[in-house]
Amino acid sequence: MSTHLILLAAGEGSRMQSDLPKVLHEIAGAPLFAHALASAQALEPGKRIVVVGHGADAVIAAAQSLDEDIAFAHQTKQLGTGHAVVQAAPLLEGAGGDAMVLFGDTPFIKPETLTSMAEARASGADIVVLGFHATDPGRYGRLVTDGARLTKIVEWKDASEDECAITLCNSGVLMAATKTLMRLLTSVQPHNAAGEYYLTDVVELATAEGLTAKVVTCDEAETLGINTREDLAQAEAIFQDAARAEAIANGVTLQAPDTVIFAHDTAIGRDAIIEPNVVFANGVTVESGARIRAFSHLEGAHVGAGSVVGPYARLRPGTELSNDAKIGNFVETKNAVIGEGAKVNHLSYIGDATVGEGTKIGAGTITCNYDGVFKHHTEIGERVFIGSNTMLVAPVTIGDEAMTATGSIITKDVPEGDLGVSRARQENKPGFARKFFEKLRAAKAKG
Ligand code: UD1
Ligand code: MG
Repeated sequence: MSTHLILLAAGEGSRMQSDLPKVLHEIAGAPLFAHALASAQALEPGKRIVVVGHGADAVIAAAQSLDEDIAFAHQTKQLGTGHAVVQAAPLLEGAGGDAMVLFGDTPFIKPETLTSMAEARASGADIVVLGFHATDPGRYGRLVTDGARLTKIVEWKDASEDECAITLCNSGVLMAATKTLMRLLTSVQPHNAAGEYYLTDVVELATAEGLTAKVVTCDEAETLGINTREDLAQAEAIFQDAARAEAIANGVTLQAPDTVIFAHDTAIGRDAIIEPNVVFANGVTVESGARIRAFSHLEGAHVGAGSVVGPYARLRPGTELSNDAKIGNFVETKNAVIGEGAKVNHLSYIGDATVGEGTKIGAGTITCNYDGVFKHHTEIGERVFIGSNTMLVAPVTIGDEAMTATGSIITKDVPEGDLGVSRARQENKPGFARKFFEKLRAAKAKG
């Protein structure tokens, strides 16, 4: 039977000091809520429902760009986690199966942790709560247990002295049969003058009916919730440390691990070498044995096996390097397919272009892809030689084994095997330079 997800993301996040809704702040290039959703993919969820409130339009747009099938429930007033889950009830009418509640601001819960919760459900617990042993229980809800059974969850504000001393805390993640959860929630009463409904109350209501509740525990590090910019910075650091360690364990050489920044989806093959100060933005794959030299920035790029990038290179989205290609210093590529063994070694911009196998692009070459309104394509064949400082005014095609003369502005296609030259012919004026400087120096000597 399928498990439906209810991801709570309506909260204001006022402690972030930000105009952006809290769950849209990013760790490793992905919004907080996307990390939680990605972990939950392990459950092969049925419906995915995001409960939105603060900044709803922006959260909806971001979630839809990740997954078109996400459904949204609106919580116009933030009356607590219980109230938030109730907003998803109409979308789950007649859905059956299980429901798992996750928080959009808790990005590090591991897929295997959610899987062990599903196993605990399958082995008979009516409600499964994810708990952890807190080094400082602070403001977390406390899990009150009786042997292996969870009897209730007490919020820190309402806890007795004995309950406050409990260090087994509530992460917020909870799983139950959809119907049971929604039915129990209809009996939850508001706790305070603010009319706050606690999701956590379902545990005591369930045990009073003779249902069973169980705790599955995870490492405290997984339950880190983001409430402030400090939390966000700490979470980013935790993510980066883990990503570096994973890359190293997978056989990647990081010459200065602390200076390499990964995105949530960076994939690097075995025996790749990453030099210091390299930034991987979203969507980068680096194949085996490639080398990324120092101070390079890559985004939306695929680097083929044995290729060398940088130092100081910028690969922008749509860059596809075949095997053994070379992109050198101060080169920018965008939406560019670079053929096997092709070289763009110095100071060039290659955008909206295809560069064939074995082609060499001279220093300072620019594909002039933009006319101010439209972008145009440049097609460069195989084993072509583009002379230094060529301006390729797109749309333009350079045939296989053709060449362009240094300093040319190429506005017309160059057929296969031909030379395209477009520059003024050189004229030498005998003795001119010497006479010219003599004149100037004489003028200077006079004062
Ligand atoms: C909650 C738990 C607490 C647990 C802690 C873990 C309850 C009553 N308490 O407390 O036991 O130890 O998380 O971090 O569940 N949200 C909404 N709408 C609302 C209120 C909250 O969508 O009306 C969302 C928030 O955006 C957030 C999540 O629910 O993602 C948790 O809300 P928060 O106010 O942080 O709950 P805590 O007080 O931390
Ligand atoms: Mg919280």
